Amino acid sequence: MKPITILAIESSCDDTSAAVLQDGWLLSNVVAGQDVHKAYGGVVPELASRAHQQNIVPVVDYALQQAGIQKNQLSAIAFTSGPGLIGSLFVGATFAKAMALALNIPLIAVNHMRAHVLAHFIDEPKPQFPFLCLTVSGGHTQIVKVNNYLDMEVVGETTDDAAGEAFDKTAKLLGLPYPGGPLIDQYAKLGNPDAYVFPEGKTREPFGFSFSGLKTSVLYFLQKNTQNNPQFIGEHLYDICASVQKTIVSTLLKRLKKAARHYGITHVAIAGGVSANSELRRELEVLGKQMKWHTYIPQFQYCTDNAGMIAMAAWYQYLEADFTNQYAVPKARFPIAEG
Ligand code: KG4
Ligand code: ZN
Repeated sequence: MKPITILAIESSCDDTSAAVLQDGWLLSNVVAGQDVHKAYGGVVPELASRAHQQNIVPVVDYALQQAGIQKNQLSAIAFTSGPGLIGSLFVGATFAKAMALALNIPLIAVNHMRAHVLAHFIDEPKPQFPFLCLTVSGGHTQIVKVNNYLDMEVVGETTDDAAGEAFDKTAKLLGLPYPGGPLIDQYAKLGNPDAYVFPEGKTREPFGFSFSGLKTSVLYFLQKNTQNNPQFIGEHLYDICASVQKTIVSTLLKRLKKAARHYGITHVAIAGGVSANSELRRELEVLGKQMKWHTYIPQFQYCTDNAGMIAMAAWYQYLEADFTNQYAVPKARFPIAEG
């Protein structure tokens, strides 16, 4: 039987990515980052869309080449439909639609946050259902109860800033370039996490998060300390990074523990850009041992935005014949789609 080969495109924020997956196996995953935002302390939407326009054709060509796949071998095209920056999403969506139309193959619209969770199914060990996934990125912070591949409930989320935003905004206050999360992670390794105490945000929601207060408290802390010593940040950078990181990680894991207890779930995963954080990865393992959880920590390349995770989500949607252009759809070969 002809294999099912999916080309997936991710362009929700500032990474242009394309991946090829065949019968559930990832064959290639190409990511082109955008250095243009570094100087601005955050992603500039207009610049992101323009960079996607420049990158999309070479990135797709390279992903196909790496996978050894010709366009006429493709069974479907998947793209990130949201959430994300609208101009950035448009580039990927329009490209995918045009290509699906030209090849007369199905189109699969993938939710970016669901894809972060399903990145866990790219490699072994694959989580067992139901599991809880702490999905932490630059735009979202959620605890997701994952009942099945396509059946997920958000049981808690942030009421203001996302965890990645807390890292990036703190980094900006410290004069570090965007994205600040990886740099804070790196500098924190050299600092004392107990040097300073910052408040953990509280919310009324049992499994909710709030990170906007942390950013304000870091701002006041820096204003106070740099008044008499303009060199304060440079002299204490590592300790500040370690202390802020400890606050964010501790807040995340406390809520995750509470949710796991509440739902009686012992399979626990992390996903999204912030799941690349070394302290979060380490502390989750420690907590997992204490709580006797099975923990799932993704490979670094599948933490931050990548089309591999979009392809994985698209694979499960393909099996359910969840296509967006019904007219162009040949009958799926799986019984579930033929009913
Ligand atoms: O999932 P992602 O690539 O994009 C979104 O969907 O937002 O996540 C990007 C976020 C940024 O805020 C970035 O600073 C953060 O992930 N991040 C990290 C680390 N690597 C990426 N935060 C903390 N430590 C890291 N090592
Ligand atoms: Zn993301």
